[in-house]
Amino acid sequence: MSFSTDNHPNKIFLSKMMLQVNFHPFPEIKTERLLLRRLIREDTEEIYKMRSDKNVMKFIGKDPITTMQEAIDFYNLVNDSLQNNTGITWAIALIDSPQKMIGTIGLWRIIKEHFRAEIGYMLMPGYWKKGLAKEAVLRVIQFGFDQMNLHSIEAHIHPKNLASASLLEATGFIREAYFKQDFFFNGAFEDTGIYSLLNTKQSSGTKR
Ligand SMILES: CC(C)(COP(=O)(O)OP(=O)(O)OC[C@H]1O[C@@H](n2cnc3c(N)ncnc32)[C@H](O)[C@@H]1OP(=O)(O)O)[C@@H](O)C(=O)NCCC(=O)NCCS
Repeated sequence: MSFSTDNHPNKIFLSKMMLQVNFHPFPEIKTERLLLRRLIREDTEEIYKMRSDKNVMKFIGKDPITTMQEAIDFYNLVNDSLQNNTGITWAIALIDSPQKMIGTIGLWRIIKEHFRAEIGYMLMPGYWKKGLAKEAVLRVIQFGFDQMNLHSIEAHIHPKNLASASLLEATGFIREAYFKQDFFFNGAFEDTGIYSLLNTKQSSGTKR
């Protein structure tokens, strides 16, 4: 599918086009080993375990949560974004054990004008280094490009987050920028690596 508007009879209409997002009904995804399903209220206990874990949260740029209420707040935020079609987060579960959430993955900060979204992911430590995040990210990229019609996906990471950097590189992302001391957290200005992946099935439509 091409995104160039140059030769289209209704060029003005198309040039004002924006990404249309609709996550209803919820798009459940299956991979070889994983089920990416809707986050449910019963997942808040696992959300609490994951987001209160210092190792998981080390490079997230937020303090680990300390109360169940914060896990519920996270769940509510995810649900609101879904209802408003402003972002989607899947609970990651193993196919064999679909009730147990072992992580989350999402496309959020959707910029509809630019057909762009940010990807975020997190797994419980017991499931690291088994290729599970890679399996999930590859399918979410496919969903973003083929179902949502995104033109690009970005990821922001702490440069010392080697697991996340390796995961992004293993799934085709390229580090396009490195912002120095752009992120103030816990009394320090931290650097950010900005990664991006383009939907190569769409032309750029560049006119400049
Ligand atoms: C980032 C995270 C999701 C990676 O999950 P994972 O399931 O362990 O990753 P995978 O096993 O799919 O590995 C993907 C690639 O990264 C590499 N990798 C994974 N962990 C790594 C590490 N600690 N150091 C270096 N490379 C690593 C793997 O070797 C693999 O590369 P390959 O395909 O070329 O062999 C996981 O470490 C995590 O949840 N971290 C805490 C939350 C977090 O930081 N989220 C990202 C915020 S930006």
